[in-house]
Amino acid sequence: MKPNPDSDDDEVMTTHNSAHRTPHSAPHTPHTALRTPHFPAVAIDGPSGSGKSTVGKAIARALGYLYIDSGAVYRAVGLKALETDTSLEDSHAVAALAKEASIKLEGDPDHLRVFLDGRDVTDDIRLPHASRASSVVATIPEVREAVVKKLREMSHERGVVMDGRDIGTKVFPDALVKIFLDASINVRARRRCEEERERGRDVTVEQIGVELEERDRRDTERAATPLVKAADAIFIDTSDMPLDRVIDQVLEIIMTRS
Ligand code: CDP
Repeated sequence: MKPNPDSDDDEVMTTHNSAHRTPHSAPHTPHTALRTPHFPAVAIDGPSGSGKSTVGKAIARALGYLYIDSGAVYRAVGLKALETDTSLEDSHAVAALAKEASIKLEGDPDHLRVFLDGRDVTDDIRLPHASRASSVVATIPEVREAVVKKLREMSHERGVVMDGRDIGTKVFPDALVKIFLDASINVRARRRCEEERERGRDVTVEQIGVELEERDRRDTERAATPLVKAADAIFIDTSDMPLDRVIDQVLEIIMTRS
């Protein structure tokens, strides 16, 4: 990693399959602020079940960019708080824990593994209690600062596709392309329900709908960088659109900007 004035002792690293080349990345030059990336960044924001990760992974695969699931980092912080019996209401303690946590994303977009302090937590962070905890810790401004810093550190070497809630507004305000995906709550709940069933969780669409609405509410109502479409983001409603078409549309947008 290049020297980084923003960095502290926390260890963050992203290693991805070296077969993934970066066709559009500019040569990296030392810089003082990671706010303006010296490489193309594609920001994909939106609520749960809007198609962010499916679209984000496909775009990263097509372009040979890094794929970074920013939600996985909030999930890892939430999981760490639960596992250390840290009260989610204790913002100082959760923020300290977020800063000191070593969170790594490893593997290509289709086989991304998440490591928390050296332990593979890829499956654990998807459990319902971790999902809920992630959206609670994500309301704490100091946690968000720590996570944004980790995300920027993970992505300063080459082109990146990052999905989340504040990528276009906060993490990469100068992203080459910003996409905001949304869909009706019914469609989102159905999509998420299918994913959960594939993971072996016995759930109903109604149950998932309630969980998503609770997280949506927390994500949109929090004071610190709430879920909101960036002014210059392209809005795509994926309710009635197959995600393959959304992927093609996003790729076309990227090509016109590159
Ligand atoms: O997969 P899903 O869209 O349901 O959630 P996620 O992207 O894994 O994110 C989990 C939680 O982390 C969200 O409910 C948000 O509260 C939080 N998050 C955030 O605040 N900002 C981000 N950039 C990404 C996630």
